[in-house]
Amino acid sequence: MKIAVCGKGGVGKTFIAGSLARCLVESGHPVIAIDADSSPNLALSLGLTSEEAARIAPVAENDALIRLKTGTDYSGVFRLTFTVDDIIRDHATPTPSGAHLLVMGTVRAMGSGCACPAHSVVKALMRHLVVERDDAVILDMEAGIEHLGRGTTRHVDSLLVVTDANRKSLEVAATICRLARGSDIARVGLVGNRVEGERHETAIREFAREHGLEVIALIPYDAGVAEAGISGTAIDETASTAFRAICNLARDLGERK
Ligand SMILES: Nc1ncnc2c1ncn2[C@@H]1O[C@H](COP(=O)(O)OP(=O)(O)OP(=O)(O)O)[C@@H](O)[C@H]1O
Ligand SMILES: [Mg+2]
Repeated sequence: MKIAVCGKGGVGKTFIAGSLARCLVESGHPVIAIDADSSPNLALSLGLTSEEAARIAPVAENDALIRLKTGTDYSGVFRLTFTVDDIIRDHATPTPSGAHLLVMGTVRAMGSGCACPAHSVVKALMRHLVVERDDAVILDMEAGIEHLGRGTTRHVDSLLVVTDANRKSLEVAATICRLARGSDIARVGLVGNRVEGERHETAIREFAREHGLEVIALIPYDAGVAEAGISGTAIDETASTAFRAICNLARDLGERK
């Protein structure tokens, strides 16, 4: 199961990606969570402290690793074929959630033809994770649309486009869905988040209908999640309606696989 989570800034991508990882671990899957945002914060959602998160070196910025993988004896020449499975073994961080976390660093130019060594390592690693391995992989993507239509996102099974009821979030979501339409991704659709009452639900469903988009799930507004965000603490999973809805979504995605 390979799931990418994207959408406009601040709509809840990291909360949803982190919760999906936790739910999949709880149901017995080995999970690799990938932070593909250039300002990464998935670590906190997976239970690491800010100090632990700050110690993680993003793959794209790990010069020693990049040199080890791509270096040659000739300056300006780098190797294009190298193994990446050991990167997961040596560089994925175990987290209290049970998921292993890989922070990619800036992957904005991924797949865009950039020939620099860091991007070739990230690209090969993403391909290995998404195409060649059996673990459940959850990708927390950067806000916006620049990363789409290229790179490894094309190979995931599900692209969850997170939106709230705000018109601007919905417009960004529609653009992402349109860009993803030509790809091989089996399932692309909206995940409405912070849904509070009928007004929100109707706004999301009507927009989806007008634009021919699937609403894959609706995640309720959850005061406990908002409070945890403010205080920087972990959410109480057992009491969280939003967390439960995300576990139902994880189950649904698993069953359709
Ligand atoms: N269902 C929900 N109910 C209440 N609050 C929520 C819910 N989902 C997310 N939030 C809160 O919204 C805020 C933004 O969430 P999050 O950081 O996951 O968004 P994001 O899309 O990853 O943002 P960015 O684009 O900056 O990476 C957080 O404070 C989070 O706690
Ligand atoms: Mg985020």
